[in-house]
Amino acid sequence: MRKKIVAGNWKMNNDINQTIALLDELIAKKPETTSAKLVVAPSFINLTTAVAKTNGTGIIVAAQNMHQAESGAFTGEVSADMLKSAHVNTVILGHSERRAYFGETNEILAKKVDTALAHGFTIIFCFGEELADRQSENHFAVVESQLREGIFHIAQENWANVVLAYEPVWAIGTGLTASPEQAQEMHAFIRNLIATAVSPAVAEATSILYGGSVKPDNAAEIFGKPDVDGGLIGGASLKADDFLGILKGIE
Ligand code: PGA
Repeated sequence: MRKKIVAGNWKMNNDINQTIALLDELIAKKPETTSAKLVVAPSFINLTTAVAKTNGTGIIVAAQNMHQAESGAFTGEVSADMLKSAHVNTVILGHSERRAYFGETNEILAKKVDTALAHGFTIIFCFGEELADRQSENHFAVVESQLREGIFHIAQENWANVVLAYEPVWAIGTGLTASPEQAQEMHAFIRNLIATAVSPAVAEATSILYGGSVKPDNAAEIFGKPDVDGGLIGGASLKADDFLGILKGIE
């Protein structure tokens, strides 16, 4: 059975007090048991606090990014070893904001993927087409090249540490969601691609999340699709009630 996952990407939101307050609320209100793994990705500076607060709660703390080099003269960057020493074992790579605003190409992302896997991370690998790609019906080709160039080179056994997150750029933070049918169509395409390029067993075992304006009132319909294994949530992960409302959508 594929893992179901609901992950909150807090982006550049929440100072240390807000981080503590949101985690306190999540911990107090979250269900005792759920079929999905709950992940939160605070900013780098709040990771240590988040790891300490969530200890023993089942909530997984992820980083939003990581540098591909081991160490060195990369001012402002954070390495795999630094994250590991803070007990962070999950990292989001390739988010569309990293691609669009920080120049992260498929080639750079392939290196980040290698570094993360070499250090034993679980990767949430993001990709998705822009509006112009969908309008010109290039969305399948764009997604295919993001996957082929960014992550399909990894060894088969490493797929156990990979979660994919399909996030159409036009749906991120816009209030425009892909319809459940559009999400399912793309997720099925991705799973078929993995089956052909990697193996049918890996395709069956890999969790594929949907991201882009998921809210409590549309989560159940999107998560109800057979190839959607959960979500990567931005805006709605900043309020405990909304995030947990989305989690309910997966049950
Ligand atoms: P959103 O962001 O839920 O605010 O659309 C999703 C994401 O960027 O991961």
